[in-house]
Amino acid sequence: MSEHNSLLQTIRVWDLPTRLFHWILVALMIAQWLTAESDGALQYHVWGGYAVLTLVLFRLIWGFAGSDTSRFSQFVRGPGAALDYVKALRRGETPLYLGHNPMGGWSILALLGLLLIQAGTGLFANDDITFDGPLSGWVSKSMSNWLTTIHKLNFNLLLLVIAVHISAVLFYLLVKHENLIHPMLSGRKHLPPEQASAAPRMVSPWLGLVALAIAVVAVGLLVR
Ligand code: HEM
Ligand code: HEM
Repeated sequence: MSEHNSLLQTIRVWDLPTRLFHWILVALMIAQWLTAESDGALQYHVWGGYAVLTLVLFRLIWGFAGSDTSRFSQFVRGPGAALDYVKALRRGETPLYLGHNPMGGWSILALLGLLLIQAGTGLFANDDITFDGPLSGWVSKSMSNWLTTIHKLNFNLLLLVIAVHISAVLFYLLVKHENLIHPMLSGRKHLPPEQASAAPRMVSPWLGLVALAIAVVAVGLLVR
């Protein structure tokens, strides 16, 4: 290890449940795209959709019960804070945040909101042949058709926001020389001691299992 590196302190920034949430979500979204496009895969698409809905519900609970960096109260800031952050970036500065920066916080909310719309409209969707979503009985056929259209349109919006999300991560990597991907995998950041003073509070991963169980039961009751 170089002398410079040995001066750095290791701080835990993302808890295990948040990291698992993220990478399982990425895998499921790829699966959802593939199963939406291929014939005969609708049943898998539906199961995958339930899994996405469960993950998003879990993340909403975790936004209140999780570790500091995962809590909405910590990373959802006003538009003013987000604008100030962008201005600082444009001045060439890179203000340090252990968790999400104020701009990132808004993109996370957008992603979670669009994912909820995607999975939610799926529950009411139909394929005009054999499949009716588990909640399509709650609405008329024309409403179900309309929600199926929203389901298809919203996916394009989702892809756009995901593209912006990945571009932002790459911008940090290539322009700001800050690797955000590694902390999302390992949970840790390596920082100079003066920046590492206030380590975020981490809650037990077992609590994450409880949050997940609540989300599983909620989705199970909804779609049974
Ligand atoms: C299907 C695609 C993706 C979706 C839906 C998605 C969604 C999200 C969400 C919801 C968060 C917030 C995490 C939390 O607080 O719970 C997040 C954060 C993050 N994602 Fe993704 N993500 C996707 C793909 C990727 C990819 C491919 C990468 C890596 C290249 C990536 C890297 C990150 C990083 C580094 C963070 C943390 C950002 C920070 O430090 O503030 N994501 N993502
Ligand atoms: C968040 C997760 C989901 C994603 C990303 C997703 C994505 C998609 C996409 C991109 C399509 C359009 C395919 C096309 O243009 O022909 C589609 C179609 C569809 N999805 Fe989803 N979906 C999700 C969840 C769900 C859920 C939970 C259900 C049902 C319970 C569902 C049921 C359907 C149905 C019935 C169609 C129409 C299939 C057809 O017309 O052939 N989806 N989905």
